Amino acid sequence: MTNTDAGYQQCLSPSCSARFDLGTVLFACPNCGSLVDVRYDWDKVAVPKALRAFDDRRATSPATPLGRLDLSGVWRFRELLPITAPEALVTLGEGRTMLQRADALARQLGINAGQLHLQYEGFNPSGSFKDNGMAAAFTMARRLGKPRVACASTGNTSASLALFARHTTLANGTPMRGIVFVGGNKIALGKLGQALDFGAQTIQVHGDFDACMSLVIQSSERLGLYLMNSVNPFRLEGQKTIIYRVLEGLAWEVPDWIVVPGGNLGNTSAFGKALMELKQLGLIDRMPRLAIINATGANALHELYNEHNLRFNNGDVETKLIDGYFAKMTSDSRRAKTIASAIEIGRPVNLIKALRSLEATNGVVRQVSDEEILCGKALVGSYGYGCEPASGASVAGLRLLLQDGTIAPSDRVVCILTGHALKDANVTVDYHTHGNNELANPPVATEADIDAIAELLSE
Ligand code: F0G
Repeated sequence: MTNTDAGYQQCLSPSCSARFDLGTVLFACPNCGSLVDVRYDWDKVAVPKALRAFDDRRATSPATPLGRLDLSGVWRFRELLPITAPEALVTLGEGRTMLQRADALARQLGINAGQLHLQYEGFNPSGSFKDNGMAAAFTMARRLGKPRVACASTGNTSASLALFARHTTLANGTPMRGIVFVGGNKIALGKLGQALDFGAQTIQVHGDFDACMSLVIQSSERLGLYLMNSVNPFRLEGQKTIIYRVLEGLAWEVPDWIVVPGGNLGNTSAFGKALMELKQLGLIDRMPRLAIINATGANALHELYNEHNLRFNNGDVETKLIDGYFAKMTSDSRRAKTIASAIEIGRPVNLIKALRSLEATNGVVRQVSDEEILCGKALVGSYGYGCEPASGASVAGLRLLLQDGTIAPSDRVVCILTGHALKDANVTVDYHTHGNNELANPPVATEADIDAIAELLSE
């Protein structure tokens, strides 16, 4: 059973710590402007005594209402994100993703057999990890009776929002309407195609993701749109479940490392929160370390963390340093630029929560070039189901961390693959057909003639 009175929202800043009901619409603390967290009085929640208890749900039938929830990789863990009663949870079968052992890739990278796993979040209904968060955010939008939901997006958030909006109606029968803000020509076609197909009102802004983000925040304040970006703390509640499924895939053993690309830093924030809560609840006995991988062309976290030594400091963050960094970015007209368009983000909105995750997990931050990202992506493709460019950053980051000795070959590592290979097929085809890329597998042109084919295949 889930007690729905257990939750509240709380400002992240220790000098404010204001508390609000779960039902208050908040994307920042109204008193001090900091990010807000969803918190729970765990004493009021029937959390299982051990994570193993969740195994029983895997055998339930989809024909019952609770069985249907158990088929969701998000709501199977509903006691760990008790935001509302089970009958009010929105699900499209999100989070039915599996951890895959990747021995061939491990061998190539120099990791011991059995120690590398890939978590393919691209196998979500809209093809990216975003569906985990949308299931929770749509549950809340529905509970609050908000028919107009909006986001800024580099593509995947918009695809996921568009899909969930199409499938969700408010309690009074009003259909929901998805509104998405995307940058002028930055969005991968697979993602744009989804937003259009699923009927979202798609607004192409002359500007980049950061401009879209600022516009959608203003629109939510002025026009009452319900904001679905990861400043919505319920999104992060849903994304916590990626960690639960990783642990589930390892028979509830904690890995040494979890490697994930960093863009707006929603996953980084959600993963740290999930792990802190599991530790607090006594459901895990140690923390894995998080490795967050930026693209060199969108490396605010890397620069602030590694070069300016910015830390969470128990919540006492040096915000002047951050303000100065972003002010300089503006005065230098510096904009994010990377082939991994999903993480082409200059000003990550969840920066402070990400710093908290890094502190809690003794995490590290690295940056990888576009070339390294493409190679990481091609490696995933050649040994598995493939992934989109941003996801390739996690494997590229792992390669770097092995080279610099931070990760040892005997460490148990999980790389999160955030989006499906088909999202950005243009980049894949370019990689294989243009230039001399390390893992290129170009198509071979030939006459439509059996002798020519025989000769080709005899090589
Ligand atoms: N990987 C993919 C495939 C993404 O789409 C994103 C973010 C990230 C990684 C970065 O994750 O923000 O949690 O650090 N995409 C957002 C979007 C920004 O609009 O689709 P993060």
